[in-house]
Formats: sequence, C-alpha cells, structure tokens
Amino acid sequence: MPETLEAEASTTADPAFRADVARGLAQAQPAIPARWLYDTRGSELFDDITRLEEYYPTRTETAIMRDNAHAIAAAAGKGGALIEFGAGSATKTPLMIDALEPDHYVPIDISGDYLRASAADLQKDHPHLAIDPVEADFTKPFDLPDEIAGLTRVGFFPGSTIGNFVPRSATDLLRTFRDILRDGSKLLIGMDRIKDLDRLRAAYDDREGVTAAFNKNLLTRMRRELGAGLDEDAFVHEARWNEMLGRIEMHLVAIRDTEMHLDGQRFAFAKGETIHTENSHKYGPRGARCLLLAGGWTPTHEWTDPARDFAFILAEAQPNRFAP
Ligand code: AVJ
Repeated sequence: MPETLEAEASTTADPAFRADVARGLAQAQPAIPARWLYDTRGSELFDDITRLEEYYPTRTETAIMRDNAHAIAAAAGKGGALIEFGAGSATKTPLMIDALEPDHYVPIDISGDYLRASAADLQKDHPHLAIDPVEADFTKPFDLPDEIAGLTRVGFFPGSTIGNFVPRSATDLLRTFRDILRDGSKLLIGMDRIKDLDRLRAAYDDREGVTAAFNKNLLTRMRRELGAGLDEDAFVHEARWNEMLGRIEMHLVAIRDTEMHLDGQRFAFAKGETIHTENSHKYGPRGARCLLLAGGWTPTHEWTDPARDFAFILAEAQPNRFAP
C-alpha cells in the first residue's frame, strides 16, 4: 500500500466502519454489517437496482400502495401524524401522504443532510403539510416531536427494510417502534414474500451486474477509506438462498487464495471463502404475521399484488388488556 493512501484514509474514515470491518473479518464466517454498503456511491447503485427488470420489490410495493390507496387510508385512518422510519423515497412517501392526508409528517433518519434535503423536496409539492424531521437512529428509543402530541400516529416502514434484520433484531426493532409510537398507534410495513427461488436469486444477481457492483463497492470503500490492502479482483458477488433461515444472503466470494491487510492485521481467504455482506429475509403470510405479533404489533389488514410477490401490512399497537 502507498504510505500516502494509508495516512489519508486514517483521517477521513468513520471509526465505526473501521471497527466493524476489523471485528467482522476476524470471525470464523467473515461478515460486515450491511449498513456500510450505503455510502453515496452505494445509495446511487441501490437506486439503480430498484429500476432493474429483475428487482421486483420496489415497483411491486409501489403498485400495491397505488392500487389500494383508498382502502389503506380507510383502514389506517386519515389525518394525524405519519411517522416514517427512514427519510423516505421520492415515490412512496408522496403516495402515502396523498392517501392518508396527515396533518404532520415526521421523517426519521440518521443522516441529517439527507433528511433535510428530502424534507425540502417534499415541502415543495406539499406546501401545507407540517414536516417535523427527526435526526435519530431509529433502532434506539427517542421521543417524537412535541408538535404531534395528542395526534393519532401511523408508522411507515416500507421497502422490506425489516428483511435486513435477523428475526431477533427485527423483533427488537418492532418493539422499539411500538415504544416510540405508543399504544393505539398503527404501522404500515412492507415485507417481501418467499417465492420462486430463481426469481429471488435473480433479483439479487441481475444480468447487468448492478447488484454485483453494489456489493463490490464495499471493497472499494475498505481500500479507499480504511487504507485496507486487498485485491478487489480476487472477489466476486454471490447471492445465495438460505433455505433454513428464509433469506437471500449477499456474499463476496474469494475466487483464489488471497489476503487482506488492515491496521497491521492480516486476514487470509482461501479460494471459496466469503465475506457475508447483507441479509434479505423473506416471509410467507404466516411468518410475516408471527414476526409482527412477536414485536408487539397485531396485524389487521394486508394488501398484496396479483402474483402475491410482496405484502403491505397494517398492524396496530393494541394496549394490554386483562384477558386469557
Ligand atoms: C433495501 C435492504 C430492502 O434487501 O432487497 C437490494 C437491499 N440489496 N439488492 C433488499 C438490496 C441488494 C434491499 N433493501
């Protein structure tokens, strides 16, 4: 590695990225948390993924929301506050705002810059909507803004983002949402369904190689930001279906024996060994409902597309009652 690159990298890198990579590479099955896939380049590539022929989730969920807008609004209730976990997509958020006509929209995102930029964009098309962005990590408890005190609350968590979390963490997250939104609130959540395995795999391994580029961008980041010594060409993208755990896994597979160097540590990869980079859990109808129930949410309505590829579910945080 050139000295200059190492020096530059160490001053600009996020220390949490460095720590996650160092810890992840030391495991028997090397793994790096999926959040590090989403830098500016990774987010652009993910945006490209959502427009791919093979990647059905985005367009399917959008169609479900559009085709059932009236029924969704009737079941979730109009007005009140719409609280989105994540700072919204340019298509799905306006769809839900036009359907539910909330008085307040509360986007929650860890990235303040992205949050403010997307709120400003949304405000242009919805001049009368009160927007109260919250800069926070929604996996940890925090308070909702005082502006929405007393309003009915509908949470919004689209995109099958819940699928990124292993069920134990997904349950924790749903319970955190419940603590934030409190009794009597509702949650609109998108979950991708289990389906034909060739279609599932193709959605995560497209012909154009966009998903491969998205996955391999992680190696580029490790090299540029952390000054890691590694051979990007020694790894290829792979999307695997894990039948036992019901999920697509993204891996970076070593196609020959290779080594990585990070902060004086050496990590050897034999041909065929992998770095696990993302999980995308899929749920059948019963599995989806069980997950919600385990997280403290009672499912009440469900909408799907004609092929049943994707589910958009409404659930309620029912207060505990004295019952069998
Ligand atoms: C944004 C996490 C829902 O799992 O389908 C798409 C991410 N990764 N292709 C998904 C993703 C590779 C996507 N989520």
